[in-house]
Amino acid sequence: MEQELKEINIMPRIGDQAPDFEAVTTKGKIKFSAFAKDKWIILFSHPADFTPVCTTEMSGFAQRKAEFDALNTELIGLSIDSIHAHLAWVNNVKENTGVYFDFPIIADIDMKVSRLYGMLQPNESETAAVRAVFFIDPSKKIRLVMYYPLNVGRNMDEILRALEALQVSDANGVAMPLNWKKGDRVIVPPPKDLDEMQERIDGNYAEKIDFYLVKKDL
Ligand code: BEZ
Repeated sequence: MEQELKEINIMPRIGDQAPDFEAVTTKGKIKFSAFAKDKWIILFSHPADFTPVCTTEMSGFAQRKAEFDALNTELIGLSIDSIHAHLAWVNNVKENTGVYFDFPIIADIDMKVSRLYGMLQPNESETAAVRAVFFIDPSKKIRLVMYYPLNVGRNMDEILRALEALQVSDANGVAMPLNWKKGDRVIVPPPKDLDEMQERIDGNYAEKIDFYLVKKDL
């Protein structure tokens, strides 16, 4: 059984096209290739409805949804649960805490999507998805992947920071240093030839350690 699951569990990588699928969600049926056209997508999985860590994480996504909206990003969750369990959980959390999960949650009861995205990691659990986060750009290319185990919740600040770092990097052709956050200096890409190296040496930059580590303000 374990060997079988390992063989069919694909691990999409950074730079891959996001695998397409059709699924039932709390917001109706979707075809992923047609979902959230021209937007970034955060596709994330949680192990199970009606569990404590998952409830804190889903609530975190819901409470920060306006920040994802501001970054032109749609949220879509997933777990290996039925649509009935999803609906009951969404309603239960709303009644208990007032937090409403106002984004689609995939009911992946046949594990089809979990397997396509490497969310089912049998040495962690054979029946529950790990805590995965796929950052997918408007061309449906996978740009960043996070996998967390069942017993540790994710960090919403880091998910938003990494999303914004990807977008600012794309928009400006720069790279982001350790702990970069909005407003910080960014890294000028290292030179690819001698002319570019000389330009880094002579150029007027905000911060220069050496020709290969140059920062500028945006
Ligand atoms: C939780 O969300 O609390 C949880 C779910 C599955 C396994 C362990 C913890």
